Amino acid sequence: MRHLLSLFDLTTDEIKQILTYSLQLKAELAEGNRHSVLASHNLALLFEKPSLRTRVSFESGISQLGGHALFLGQEVGWGKRESVKDFSEVLSQYVDVIACRSYKHSTLEQLVEYSTVPVINALTDYSHPCQALADVLTIQEEFESLENRHLVFVGDANNVSRSLAIACGKLGLKFTLAGPAAYQFTDQEKTEIESGCAVANFEQTEDAVGAVASADAIYTDVWASMGQEKEQKQREQDFADYQVNESLMAAAPEHAIFLHCLPAKRGQEVTDAVMDGPQSRVVAQAGNRMHAQKGLLVWLLDKQL
Ligand code: CP
Ligand code: NVA
Repeated sequence: MRHLLSLFDLTTDEIKQILTYSLQLKAELAEGNRHSVLASHNLALLFEKPSLRTRVSFESGISQLGGHALFLGQEVGWGKRESVKDFSEVLSQYVDVIACRSYKHSTLEQLVEYSTVPVINALTDYSHPCQALADVLTIQEEFESLENRHLVFVGDANNVSRSLAIACGKLGLKFTLAGPAAYQFTDQEKTEIESGCAVANFEQTEDAVGAVASADAIYTDVWASMGQEKEQKQREQDFADYQVNESLMAAAPEHAIFLHCLPAKRGQEVTDAVMDGPQSRVVAQAGNRMHAQKGLLVWLLDKQL
């Protein structure tokens, strides 16, 4: 049995297999064909934080594959009404797979310790692997291949940028994080990313304009993630020079696309002109969350298409 806590859990070949399944399922859906490969399979969605994309794309995705999702919000009392051990052992008897969004990554790790079914990280403070799978799928669709493409993440070292850095390292893309020095990955985190990937081509810089000059994809995320609300004002000051706007996009090659995991704070990390501009792929990217997770579910539950 496998789990997906971060993309460190997958080999390059496994990520490629998931992307292949995702593209196949997306193409078949576009033709009106739906698989019933997960018929009568149940997915529990255990969420401590709000969500639109992750929740709905998992719910719709498993339904399109013949299965069923159960959304479990705070009222199930996970870790409060009873211990994580009791909760996990009981829940995993009822369902085939669990997707969990928790504040602390350690909470997810506890769930995994006691679960007898596969667990998928649906976002923690440490990583967001489902997002990165959809993101590389979007880049692959745009450029047909991933190898040697350059992804520049303008923002902080967070769950999304960490997952992207690992995805890039595993799939042969160059990854650059452009942001204030105090918000970059620490040496220890950088070493963890590099040692977990076959050929990591990983850089960090405070020079966003210089970084995007060779970018194929420019990516940003909110300056303060869920759980960091108290830092919002300070971060608005610290990231003021790191907005992805028309001026920054003008410093990038014309073919470069703009990506954002969403939800965005328009007017802060990105302007309306970029979000809604010709280089933006944010809507297709969000759509790919569902296709990527369908591929992931098929692979994780050991099914074949
Ligand atoms: N990108 C993402 O995970 O969105 P949600 O928080 O809406 O799920
Ligand atoms: N870094 C953001 C991503 C939201 C999808 C957060 O954790 O809030």
